[in-house]
Amino acid sequence: MKFPAEPFRIKVVEPIKTTTREEREQLIKEAGYNIFLLPADSIFIDLLTDSGTSAMSDNQWAGLMLGDESYAGSKNYYHFESVVREIFGFKNVIPTHQGRVAENLLFSTVVKEGDVVPNNIHFDTTRANIEYHNATALNCVIDEGLEPDSLHPFKGNVDINKLEQAITTYGKEHIPLIMITITNNSGGGQPVSMENIKAVSNVAHKHGIPLFFDACRFAENCYFIKEREEGYADKSIMEIANELFSYGDGATMSAKKDGLVNIGGFLAMNDNVLAQKVTNMLILIEGFRTYGGLAGRDLEAIARGLKEVLNEDYLQFRIQQTRFLGEMLLEQDIPIIQPVGGHAVYIDAKRFLPHIPQREFPGQALVVELYKRAGIRAVEIGSLMFGTKNPKTGKEIYPELELVRLAIPRRVYTSMHMQYVSESLGEIFEDRNHIHGYAIEYEPEFLRHFTARLKPV
Ligand code: F0G
Repeated sequence: MKFPAEPFRIKVVEPIKTTTREEREQLIKEAGYNIFLLPADSIFIDLLTDSGTSAMSDNQWAGLMLGDESYAGSKNYYHFESVVREIFGFKNVIPTHQGRVAENLLFSTVVKEGDVVPNNIHFDTTRANIEYHNATALNCVIDEGLEPDSLHPFKGNVDINKLEQAITTYGKEHIPLIMITITNNSGGGQPVSMENIKAVSNVAHKHGIPLFFDACRFAENCYFIKEREEGYADKSIMEIANELFSYGDGATMSAKKDGLVNIGGFLAMNDNVLAQKVTNMLILIEGFRTYGGLAGRDLEAIARGLKEVLNEDYLQFRIQQTRFLGEMLLEQDIPIIQPVGGHAVYIDAKRFLPHIPQREFPGQALVVELYKRAGIRAVEIGSLMFGTKNPKTGKEIYPELELVRLAIPRRVYTSMHMQYVSESLGEIFEDRNHIHGYAIEYEPEFLRHFTARLKPV
């Protein structure tokens, strides 16, 4: 195992508070055993998400001072637009304040009731934004993508047969677009190969269906292509990104991930007519075309972040740090999804806590334990997040995977922090037989994991 040293030094520090176990027991109880309802300053190491939690560079902070806050035509918008075009190549660049607004704008413009949108695996906000229109969000990932132990190098790949089958079953007129999520967050942060992207693009375009990327972690995906796919070792990340996006017609982007910023996103596409429709909607819900819900300074930080994220020293460290945590867990026989993904390590909660049935949320049980014992916040990606009810019988339908995600914010925690996380999990693993399950006390209609309240069983 190679200890990854940070390719940056620390110029500003943010102290983190320590709490006692008794305090944490009380806090998590008050939060209904839902880590989304905890005050963040009661957390020692926050691995809830890699979204909006990046540390910006001195160069990005300097860019904030150059914010042009003109209502229309801010110079930061033009900078942002030119960087997005340079990397992604799409003609129209529509800023939004985060990724899900890009999804909302896109789906509310093109998705009709009864439509089907295939993807490798939909992230929860894309799924919810599609289902909101009484349409179906269909997952078509390869079978290996659902097998925690499969060492396939591109477990985010779309199964071309499943995709063709979906087009035959539902008809291309009911498929307004096909999506590919890079990297595939809900399947373990796994990459998609260039070869697969090309194949999906061929299928989509053969049927006249546009292909859009959910591009949040595109740079990490490009790094995996460079590392693992033949013919890319000598290409720059920019060249790989240019080729990758050339196979698509547009992208939704949360810049809170590979934009290295705390807020921001965009929707980009080649279709001018669609862009016009979306812009009208944007003005209704977000703001004018040249700021889309952001300040000029935010656009400047994104423009700079999108360039920094292509840096190979940065990406090498980023991918290695995540892998390093995964390998430390594997050494203690803790079951994780392999190979380790880009932005997070995913623990297989079904195997970590085999004595807790899926209806008692084993993933959530582990998340609660990790907070109580070590002040670490992780997130469940399993039956609490994705469980649904059969509309006719009211019976719960459980997802195939029951995961706990340790998402690693970019440039925030050191490798020593990763060791602390690994040791804490090791202690919990030894004691795992004492951990019990949970039941839902309250749940809302959509995206229940954010606000649900639970109780121990
Ligand atoms: N798509 C993917 C693949 C994502 O991971 C996310 C966000 C979004 C879309 C939505 O972007 O939050 O800017 O509106 N994922 C975060 C996470 C929340 O923790 O994985 P957003």
